[in-house]
Amino acid sequence: MREVDRISLGEGDSAAAIAAVRAHSAAFATENGRPPRAFVLTFGCQQNVADSEKLSGMAKEMGYEIAESAEAAELILVNTCAIREHAEKRALSIVGQYKHLKEKNRDLIIGVCGCMVVQEHRREQLRKSYPYVDFILGTSVLHRLPELLAKKLSQKRRIFGGDEEYAIAENVPILRDSPYRAWVSIMYGCNNFCSYCIVPYVRGRERSRAPEDVIAEVRDLVARGYKDITLLGQNVNSYGKGESHGVDFAELLARLDAIEGDFVLRFMTSHPKDATRRLVDVMAAGKHIAHHFHLPLQSGSDTILKRMNRHYDRAAYLSILDYMREKMPDIAVTSDIIVGFPGETDADFEDTLSMLSRVRFDMIYSFIYSPRKGTPAAAMEDQIPKEVSGKRFDRLLALQEQIALDANEPLMGTEQRVLCDGLSKDDGMLSGRNGQNKIVFWEDDGTPAGEWATIKIDRVAPFALYGKKNQVKVRKSNGNF
Ligand code: SAH
Ligand code: SF4
Ligand code: F3S
Repeated sequence: MREVDRISLGEGDSAAAIAAVRAHSAAFATENGRPPRAFVLTFGCQQNVADSEKLSGMAKEMGYEIAESAEAAELILVNTCAIREHAEKRALSIVGQYKHLKEKNRDLIIGVCGCMVVQEHRREQLRKSYPYVDFILGTSVLHRLPELLAKKLSQKRRIFGGDEEYAIAENVPILRDSPYRAWVSIMYGCNNFCSYCIVPYVRGRERSRAPEDVIAEVRDLVARGYKDITLLGQNVNSYGKGESHGVDFAELLARLDAIEGDFVLRFMTSHPKDATRRLVDVMAAGKHIAHHFHLPLQSGSDTILKRMNRHYDRAAYLSILDYMREKMPDIAVTSDIIVGFPGETDADFEDTLSMLSRVRFDMIYSFIYSPRKGTPAAAMEDQIPKEVSGKRFDRLLALQEQIALDANEPLMGTEQRVLCDGLSKDDGMLSGRNGQNKIVFWEDDGTPAGEWATIKIDRVAPFALYGKKNQVKVRKSNGNF
């Protein structure tokens, strides 16, 4: 068994680096009357959001304030995603816009972090065509930010190492975006090598945090008033594999559920081949575990699933799904679907539509297949033309919209307990999410963000529920009780 290296931030080289950057920040503050500021921009999935909270945490530890915009910052960190071409293009275009900021301020430091820069061809591109980028920092070395910054501040030269460590770093300071909703990474990397996916190449092999570290983090969050906690991993169902402690994901979830407090536990993402009945049983028996399962199907065609290297078929998917619904009739099931995978025929696509009709997902994230350099699918013949994928994509969305509306209809007239997220941007209504992760809107009644509210649903739409806050009935008393 390969033991994963476990690093503790703040020891050895990192402690010296943090001290050096802090001294620099203090000198800056004396000269400018304020501390230096860091701006962190995030692309990609929740894992990246969680990583960015660590980047911000480390920046704060080194004496930086967090800036609201790139223009106001002395340090810019762009945390990138490589899952589809569009994500990479957006990141590169934003980095391109920072050129003029560097022209205005020669001392500005720009770092590009995350999944995109783990790919050699992107590193080269940034090194050659983006000379104002000072350093890159891959996904498995984020905790090296202090050392990199200390080096950069003292040597001035660009740092484009690209070394990955794939260790587990504990004690990395985290500056969480929310005072009531938290992300907790329980494992990193992925071993599945689905044939279309770049993640295993940019996040490395699967490795799990120790159960006691995860439990201590969640316990601390609950004690500090966090109410909605999501456990993160590319495939949380392989938590603990290859580790000697013998705690699998179902067991970890059961142990976390035993923590006392008023909080909801969620998790993402699950691979259908590893989702176990025991996990479903733990969810059904849980006090805190949300009745929501995100179970990416990707395709409804057995032929395509095979070519995607997914290791399950329609029948296996339906078997775990039916068990879930039997144990938790109120469970919300959501999914990811890819259309236009190489070789996908009209009949394969019809199979995907028929699975949608059979499963009746509460919500799906759908994507048009995007070839990723170095993955097996990118080299497959029969790449599907854009017009064909586009048409399939539209049909998929139309069918799902009807299914989602039907799935929400039974919720008319029900009471939903939601955690308030504050005012929504567009319409001035309050919004929050219920246990099934559905968005609920209601008129502004002053409920603060982070408070629970019980909403009586009086309108449903495919992507949201609407209602009114249930007033607590106060019975009039005549004073003689
Ligand atoms: N680890 C997670 C998902 C990570 S990526 C899981 O396995 O469920 C999120 C989603 O992006 C995937 O589920 C897939 O639907 C989609 N995706 C991944 N690679 C893609 C590609 N090359 N083109 C289009 N969509 C892709
Ligand atoms: Fe990508 Fe598959 Fe791993 Fe998910 S399970 S991250 S889709 S390789
Ligand atoms: Fe993107 Fe990396 Fe997540 S590629 S989807 S940010 S794991």
